Amino acid sequence: MKPVTIDTLSARKQSGTPITMVTAYDAPTARLLSESGVDIALVGDSLGMVVQGGENTLSVTLEEMLYHTRMVRRGLDGPLLVVDMPFLSYQVSEEEGHRNAGRLIKEGGAQAVKLEGGAEIAGLVHRLTRSMIPVIGHIGMKPQAVHQMGGFKVQGRDLPGREQIIADARALLEAGVFALLLEAIPPSLAREITALSPMPTIGIGAGPETDGQVLVFHDLVGWSPSPLPRFARAFGDVGANARKALSLFREAVSTRNYPSTGESYPEKDSTTPPATRNKSRRKG
Ligand code: KIV
Repeated sequence: MKPVTIDTLSARKQSGTPITMVTAYDAPTARLLSESGVDIALVGDSLGMVVQGGENTLSVTLEEMLYHTRMVRRGLDGPLLVVDMPFLSYQVSEEEGHRNAGRLIKEGGAQAVKLEGGAEIAGLVHRLTRSMIPVIGHIGMKPQAVHQMGGFKVQGRDLPGREQIIADARALLEAGVFALLLEAIPPSLAREITALSPMPTIGIGAGPETDGQVLVFHDLVGWSPSPLPRFARAFGDVGANARKALSLFREAVSTRNYPSTGESYPEKDSTTPPATRNKSRRKG
């Protein structure tokens, strides 16, 4: 797949061709995204909930984001690799944020970072983009502000909230973001921001009129541990397939139908070479 760059995404906005973005937390998922032609792979801090089983994303550390970003980097071929800066990795000081963003690029192999926040982080965004670290701004519902918002709630429904989100979008664009991620806001607000923004907007729970859409991998393939939010759609049922495979395995083992002779290694003096799938890992 031809590598997706920031220029590719900007051309998509100009031509009106929707952008696709999906989360990935490991190498096999990164390979699936690459094969399916998705534009952006996001190592989201949602991994704190989806992979680690937490209630929110707040406990995710920079080291954990680095660990998952390296895995995704190894499996990815084509999509742009974007990584979330986790809670408190950029809110304490611009200097710390700058250093941590640099680590995600330098040590993790990410091509861009995503930061939750509006006007209050514009200074940092400006600093990052000036030092050649591309940034996506994340506004609307900001999961790292879950306690401040009193839960995961739709934002921008009243006039002051709406005006604040528009002001945040403008401040981030001015600071140099190459895209805006809009989460859980009314479609009319997403439409307004998409119209005013020269950079692509990518929505999640923001209606159909953004320049692209993003979903969490586990929600999209039907492997989510919890009920889906209103905006998410399961396009497959990986969970059901996995449960079926596990129950077939358990049954085959308990009835001694697995492994068969063909699935067992022959004795040493056999002339038949052992069947191996991956010679470097599974020695005959
Ligand atoms: O962490 C995440 O997965 C996100 C979503 C918006 C996709 O930021």
